[in-house]
Amino acid sequence: MPYQFIIADKHGKVGLITLNRPQQLNALCDALIDELGAALAAFEADETVGSMVITGSPKAFAAGADITAMKDWSYMDVYQPDYLGPNWARIRNCRKPVIAAVAGYALGGGCELAMSCDMIFAADTAKFGQPEIKLGVLPGAGGTQRLPRAIGKAKAMDMCLTARMMDAKEAEQAGLVARVIAADQLIEETLAAAETIAGYSLPVIMMIKEAINRAYEMPLGEGLLYERRVFQAAFALADRKEGMAAFVEKRQPAFKNR
Ligand code: HXC
Repeated sequence: MPYQFIIADKHGKVGLITLNRPQQLNALCDALIDELGAALAAFEADETVGSMVITGSPKAFAAGADITAMKDWSYMDVYQPDYLGPNWARIRNCRKPVIAAVAGYALGGGCELAMSCDMIFAADTAKFGQPEIKLGVLPGAGGTQRLPRAIGKAKAMDMCLTARMMDAKEAEQAGLVARVIAADQLIEETLAAAETIAGYSLPVIMMIKEAINRAYEMPLGEGLLYERRVFQAAFALADRKEGMAAFVEKRQPAFKNR
């Protein structure tokens, strides 16, 4: 399916989505987020895809929401259509894992988009920030909520209130980023990790993602119970039987996503 603001293609079992508004540093106009949701939904529905990667350009993952588009909007222009609601929820509601491969700027909505993914792999050129305060506004797609959970209150306050940027090294030390990678290796290494994930049993991949995400919604006791019940449910899978049999028989498992 042709898109205007993104490129979507398959690399083995991985769906790769490249944000493609280079002149605007991948500023996230609503149509781009709509296309992103559609591409993720198509990969979700594709049984040959096990994981997805979202990336941008070497200069910018995304420099935030589209300021040019937003500048004249009124309250009702954003409230009535629930701006940042339904189309952003499609990203969050993905059941297959999504990795953000971030090079260059990930600012405002760009940082929030990266945090909406399941993990962030950062090029050593990556810069993260929530500079909305400079525009007289605040983060609106999860910045004030996901950032404190990822890096703690002190650094979240610092970033959102001063608008300073965080480089890849600090972001990794703070827990925002899973890996820092040399910029020229970013896509290759991220696709390799995504391919590794996609090689495992799809229902188990989805169960793990769901269980980790529940950790942010549930008290510990409930989360432990949830995890144990899903662990027990995994014994209904043919892939669980195959994985353990393959170990005992000293061979590679052949998962069938069942
Ligand atoms: C629209 C943008 C843009 C944005 C950059 N551009 N960011 N257009 N929306 N968020 C455009 C510029 O206007 C310019 O267009 C071109 O991209 C290149 O940008 P430059 O500023 O010339 O590049 P540079 O000097 O290298 O500076 C890079 C930058 C700067 C530091 C990233 O562009 C910048 O500060 N951008 C805004 C970052 C920001 O405030 N983001 C938060 C947005 S609010 P022309 O036509 O002049 O070449 C937000 C709300 C969150 O995200 C809500 C959830 C989505």
